[in-house]
Amino acid sequence: MTDKTTNDATPSTDTGSGDLFNTAAGWVLFAAGLGLGLSILAGKHFHGDSPQRPETLGYVIEGVEIEAGAVEMTMDEALNMEGVDVSAGERVFAKCAACHTIDQGGANGVGPNLYGIMGSSVGGVSGYEYSGVMASFGGQWGWDEMNDWLNNPRGYMDGTKMGFAGLSKIEDRAAVALYMNANGSNLPIPEYIAEAAEETVDETVADEEAEALADQEAAAEVDQNDAEATSEEIEAAEASD
Ligand code: HEC
Repeated sequence: MTDKTTNDATPSTDTGSGDLFNTAAGWVLFAAGLGLGLSILAGKHFHGDSPQRPETLGYVIEGVEIEAGAVEMTMDEALNMEGVDVSAGERVFAKCAACHTIDQGGANGVGPNLYGIMGSSVGGVSGYEYSGVMASFGGQWGWDEMNDWLNNPRGYMDGTKMGFAGLSKIEDRAAVALYMNANGSNLPIPEYIAEAAEETVDETVADEEAEALADQEAAAEVDQNDAEATSEEIEAAEASD
């Protein structure tokens, strides 16, 4: 109120510097307006305005979930996957057959005969000359040990003479382990309850998404407040000019 009257009462003698100030103030106002517009757009884009979580979020989670699943799948899960079975393992074993036999009493070749290898001692096939590291490694071939070994033989056993790069897919490692288990071994196959584990992953991802969303909303709000404050200041400054 008082500002307005001050403005009217001010004699316009120093128009030169006043115009200059007005031009500068105009640019600042324009910039502030631009910022406000952008932050509104950003708010729209990130659904910052809507009080409800957007429905499309479900799709985002699904994509992330597949990724997470691929990285974090356990041997227990892989062993229980559809399509991971003895016959799939037999096909994978074609890669091993160049060096290994698996029939009962089969000859040792470049590598030892693998009949009954699941559950038996590491480096324990009689008549085969192991590398030093495998001969003294110790332990038995359980599901997890076989998984780690076939994933990266040299990483698992530094100095092994098994000249095989490994199987990169856990489905292949699980299937070939099932095939070996069906040839002279009989380890129980670990149980895996799919629904429970999937829900855990789902919830974790959903929580993270929600947190990120809340952060974005907060950031957008702060921007808007800033812009409003700035334009108010400018109005006040202009008024008192
Ligand atoms: C290029 C030859 C070669 C290929 C291919 C190969 N292996 Fe081997 N494997 C070996 C050799 C050699 C050893 C003995 C390693 C040592 O003594 O360090 C061995 C050892 C093993 C052992 C340990 C056996 C024991 O007595 O403890 C297992 C299990 C095994 N291989 C499984 C496989 C499987 C499964 C595949 C296919 C996915 C495979 N190997 C492919 C050469 C090979």
